Amino acid sequence: MCTACDGYSHTMSVPSLPAELAELRETAVSVLRGNDLGDITRPSPTLYPHQWLWDSCFIAIGLRHLDPQRAAAEILSLLRGQWPNGMIPHVIFAETTDFYHAGPQRWRCDRVTTTAGGAQSTGVTQPPMIAEAAVRVGALMSDSERGEFYRRLFPGLLRFHQWLYDERDPDDDGLVSLVHSWESGMDNTPTWMEITRPVAPLGVRALRRINGDDALDALRRDSKEVPSDERLTSGDLFTLYRIVRELRRAHYNFREIRRTIVPLVQDVAFNAILVRANEHLSTIAAEIGEVIPARLRRSARRTREAMGELVVDGVYYSRDFRTRTLLRHETIAGLLPLYAGVVPEDRVDEMVKTLTSPRYWSRFGVASVPLDDPNVLPRCYWQGPLWVNMNWLIADGLERYGRLDAAENLRRNTVDVIASSGAMFEYYSPLDGSGAGSNRFSWTAALLIDLLAAER
Ligand code: SER
Repeated sequence: MCTACDGYSHTMSVPSLPAELAELRETAVSVLRGNDLGDITRPSPTLYPHQWLWDSCFIAIGLRHLDPQRAAAEILSLLRGQWPNGMIPHVIFAETTDFYHAGPQRWRCDRVTTTAGGAQSTGVTQPPMIAEAAVRVGALMSDSERGEFYRRLFPGLLRFHQWLYDERDPDDDGLVSLVHSWESGMDNTPTWMEITRPVAPLGVRALRRINGDDALDALRRDSKEVPSDERLTSGDLFTLYRIVRELRRAHYNFREIRRTIVPLVQDVAFNAILVRANEHLSTIAAEIGEVIPARLRRSARRTREAMGELVVDGVYYSRDFRTRTLLRHETIAGLLPLYAGVVPEDRVDEMVKTLTSPRYWSRFGVASVPLDDPNVLPRCYWQGPLWVNMNWLIADGLERYGRLDAAENLRRNTVDVIASSGAMFEYYSPLDGSGAGSNRFSWTAALLIDLLAAER
C-alpha cells in the first residue's frame, strides 16, 4: 500500500476505457480500498470482516492490475494461518473486534494447534485457488520479482497440497473429501444441503416439524448486512454450526471425523480446482528449480483420472465419501470440470450446450442452480444466483478449450450485470440481474478489474 495516498502503489497503468466503465472500475478500486486491512482484504465490510482463503486468491487476481506486490502480499499472508500439519484454513481471523457469527470461539482451534503467524483460524480449508492466483500475479511481475515471490510461497503451498492428499484422501483414490460445506465455498447448494440436513440438531428438527423456523431467525446473527432470505435458512445455518461442533470434538482430524455423523463429500468443484492448482504448482516449481515430490505428482495424476468417476450421461456430480454414491443433484459445481480441463474433447460440445442452454445461461451469466430446478431461489446465496468468480472460472475453462465466443460472451455478460447494478454485489439474480448479498464485495470488485484489463 502507498501510505501517503492511502491507495495502491499505482505501478500499473490504468486502462483506457469508455467513461462508464472507467467509473465502474473506480468504484471497484474504492471497494477494495475500503476493505483493505493492510496486507489482507476482507471480503466485505461487516458480513465477512476477516481473511478468507479463496476470496484472497480472487482478490489478488484483481489487485495485480493495481499493485502486483500488494497482490503477492495478499497471497503470502495466507501462509500466516498455516497449521503445522500443512492445512491453510478457510478463515484467518484478523485482529478486529468486528462481530463475525462463526468467530474463533466457535472453533477453538487454539486448543488443538498453532498457526505459522500466531493468528487464530477456523479448522477447515477452502478451494485451493492459491496456485492459480500466484501464477496470475507472477505474470505481471519482472522475472526477478516473480522468482522471489515464488520462492517465498512455494514451501508452504507445497505442504498445503500434500496435506490435502495425506489428510483428506486416506483411501488414495485421488479425490479429496470435504468435512463441511464451508470448505466448498458454496455453502448451501442443494447438493450440500441434502446431505447435511439429516444431521440437523434436534432442536432444528423439532422446530421444522411445527414450522417454527421463525423462532430460529431471532437467534441468528449473520444477517445484519444482508436480508436473511438472501442467505441460507436459519435451520441450515444452525446445522452447519452443529457440524463445526462435531469437528471441534474430533480435533479437526479426519481419522476421528470419519467416525462421527459429519457428512463427507468428494466435492466435484473443489477437486476440479485442485486439478488446475496442481498444474500451476508444477509451473511455479519449474520456474524456481524445485521438484514436486513423486508422491504428490502421482496423487495429482490420480485426481485428474478420478474426475471421470464423477460423470454420468455427461453430467458431473459430487460423491459421498463413505458410500461412494454420486449426489445426483445438478448444480454449477458440476461445470467446473471445464475449468479443470478434464472433460474429454468429444464431450466438450455437449457440456457447452448444457452450459449455454437457458437452464444455466441467462444473459447475465451462469446460474448456480439450473433455472428449471423446482427449488431454485434466484436471489438466495448458492441456491440460484450467479457469482462473478464462477463466471470467471468457467470463462477461463471455455477459453482453454478454444470455445472463444462462449468465453467472450460470458465475460461481457459479467461486466454488464455488474455495470447495470452500479455496485459490487456478492451475487446477482440470473432472472433480472438484480444484485443481492453484500454490496461491497471484494472479489466482485477484483475480478471486474481483471475482466476490464482483459477487455482492453
Ligand atoms: N460463507 C460462510 C459465512 O457466511 C463461511 O465461510 O460466514
